[in-house]
Amino acid sequence: MSDRLIIFDTTLRDGEQSPGAAMTKDEKIRIARQLERLGVDVIEAGFAAASPGDAEAIKAIAGVIKNSTVCSLARANERDVRAAGEAIKPAASGRIHTFIATSPIHMEKKLRMQPDQVVDAAVKAVKMALEYTDNVEFSAEDAVRSEMDFLCRVFEAVIQAGAKTLNVPDTVGYSIPALWGERIRQLIERVPNSDKVVWSTHCHNDLGMAVANSLAAVMNGARQVECTINGLGERAGNASLEEIVMAVKTRRDVFGCDSRIDTTQIVPTSRLVSQITGYPVQPNKAIVGANAFSHESGIHQDGVLKHRETYEIMRAEDVGWSHNKLTLGKLSGRNAFRTRLQELGIVLESEEALNAAFARFKELADKKREIFDEDLQALVANESGLDACDRFKLVSLKVCSETGETPHAFVVLSDGGGEIRADEFGGGPVDASFRAIEKRVESGSTLLLYSVNNITTGTDAQGEVTVRLARNGRIVNGQGADTDIVIASAKAYLNALNKLFGAEERAHPQV
Ligand code: KIV
Ligand code: ZN
Repeated sequence: MSDRLIIFDTTLRDGEQSPGAAMTKDEKIRIARQLERLGVDVIEAGFAAASPGDAEAIKAIAGVIKNSTVCSLARANERDVRAAGEAIKPAASGRIHTFIATSPIHMEKKLRMQPDQVVDAAVKAVKMALEYTDNVEFSAEDAVRSEMDFLCRVFEAVIQAGAKTLNVPDTVGYSIPALWGERIRQLIERVPNSDKVVWSTHCHNDLGMAVANSLAAVMNGARQVECTINGLGERAGNASLEEIVMAVKTRRDVFGCDSRIDTTQIVPTSRLVSQITGYPVQPNKAIVGANAFSHESGIHQDGVLKHRETYEIMRAEDVGWSHNKLTLGKLSGRNAFRTRLQELGIVLESEEALNAAFARFKELADKKREIFDEDLQALVANESGLDACDRFKLVSLKVCSETGETPHAFVVLSDGGGEIRADEFGGGPVDASFRAIEKRVESGSTLLLYSVNNITTGTDAQGEVTVRLARNGRIVNGQGADTDIVIASAKAYLNALNKLFGAEERAHPQV
């Protein structure tokens, strides 16, 4: 059995199915570039048939990524497979990932198809996908609740049709490690020609066991794991890439395989995905949480100081923690700025983009004495959300807030070419600012989430705000960062409004 574990990242597809995590094309390209730097083998860049925008984003990613395979999801039908095939055409290495549900409940209630029709559709889809690439993956959706004999039959048929990777998903996060490992072992044992393909697993986290189930699959012969950065994904999310990668690396003695991931890129990738999607990382999250390597108790601190391995099984620097390394200051020049961005793996598309980022850096350096890597990442991520096509931009904000008085916000926005002015009172400065904006924009949206995190430590740190809005069943996240959290909040609110007004209708692959 191979000792290489293939890492298939689906942050840009399943991760994007998290409520409000929809990304723009530019944001997806930035994440794809970072995933390539991280060393993932396969980037599932999206679901081409979802919308023209999704297809365009996959095509753009396929055009720029050279060292990872770029993949598009496709349901097992002609329209989807052809859309996926067209989207991955520019890729140096492209894959089509086609799927159909195989469980009785999905076949009967969702697809309204007989088992024979499902096998037929799976085989046809794989054959059609082969017209575009010889790298075809097939998934049996809801494999966890599928009958073993039928699963074996479908997998045997798609191997014969030419699929090279067979994915076994726990779509609803229902399994437990012992059962999932056993299922993978039996499939490999029973399906004819199972040694000619790579077996893969794709686990959801509804019972908090996505990573454990994926690792059980690896122990039983799976050599591809589908996962996402920070465990982002539909409902409770997917298996988290960083946990899988570090588990197999740290316990190679148990798993007998390893990935080609550059683990020092894990934390920067986690941050980028969190900033772009607006999904914060919980402090106690393994590997990438702020507390993952901090020792609070005196006994632990004493032990670590005497001999690090007393309480640490991994080194923080090996997964990319830089410990808020001081990077630049007010007097740093454009070259130092450009060099540090390059070292952080941030590529700005043009000289104008660099000049604009440098101007923002100078503004920030006026407000904040020390600029850390995290500040630079936020500065660039924040701006990438403000595309030129954004309708609303914050021109100015003044808020009067004093004890015993009702906070009052005055806001000036640019709306396309024109200018909007509004003022409003509110329960607090943020509330007053949002009310003032809403008074004129009239989005009619509902605020689902408002959260503030400081990017680094200290009272002069930038606050990073996430705002989640819903309207007509559509959910979007907006982000904003500033040393003034009221301004950061207004920026985040406008970023969310821009997404809400700009969002296009998209199909969901599994509905
Ligand atoms: O969870 C799932 O079954 C999926 C498939 C499309 C692979 O995401
Ligand atoms: Zn999934």
